[in-house]
Amino acid sequence: MSGLKLTNLSYSVDGTELLHDISFTQASVGISAILGPNGAGKSLLLSLIHGVIKPNMGRVTWDGILADKTKLSRGFVFQTPIVLRRSVRANLAYPLKINGQHSETAIKAMLELSHLTPLAKQPAASLSGGEAQRMAIARALITKPEVLLLDEPCSNLDPASTKLIEAMIGQFVAKGGSVFISTHDLAQAKRLADTVLFINAGQLLEHTAARDFFDGPETPQAQAYLNGDL
Ligand SMILES: Nc1ncnc2c1ncn2[C@@H]1O[C@H](COP(=O)(O)OP(=O)(O)OP(=O)(O)O)[C@@H](O)[C@H]1O
Ligand SMILES: [Mg+2]
Repeated sequence: MSGLKLTNLSYSVDGTELLHDISFTQASVGISAILGPNGAGKSLLLSLIHGVIKPNMGRVTWDGILADKTKLSRGFVFQTPIVLRRSVRANLAYPLKINGQHSETAIKAMLELSHLTPLAKQPAASLSGGEAQRMAIARALITKPEVLLLDEPCSNLDPASTKLIEAMIGQFVAKGGSVFISTHDLAQAKRLADTVLFINAGQLLEHTAARDFFDGPETPQAQAYLNGDL
């Protein structure tokens, strides 16, 4: 199948199972939101989907190739954005450099798109939390990946920055990219998501069209989560 496939995936640390027997397939189109309460396993699931960590049992494949072996280009924005100790501009230049694709035009365009042009020369370590998050997303997008993995990308952002990030995501998807995003912002998930993956206590409880999920989730856990009771 074309796209992402998880087969009987489990992930444990020191004998504690943190994700339990997760299986689903997701075509590489549009936006999938990963929802669930704190500690459910969303960040772990994103890391496993990316291939940066490997499951203890089961497997993750992209177009039939194991996630840690695939050549598919993926951008990953971690829940706590990684800030390289150099200028904002140099942070954006870095992934281009390691891919041998240095492009002043791409850097300039991405600084503009992320509204970071006035801060380009500033040390990235001095950015505010929200600015750093915007930079991390710009850095993930600059190499034009096929898949974008975003772990609560708007958690520190003001409404204008959130709108900007959503526009960047929208533009990426309009060009054919696919996105996996974890978020606790249910309004954002409603605005963006085509598909919802709902996880609770390490188990995938729902994988459904976003419209159906928000109209009436099937499991009591998802109902409780949407009502703020989980
Ligand atoms: N390396 C690890 N060793 C032990 N436990 C871990 C490890 N990594 C994650 N966990 C635990 O696994 C569970 C899921 O963590 P995860 O970070 O995926 O949650 P989350 O759904 O992203 O939560 P949040 O909404 O708070 O970001 C948590 O209980 C966490 O403490
Ligand atoms: Mg998390």
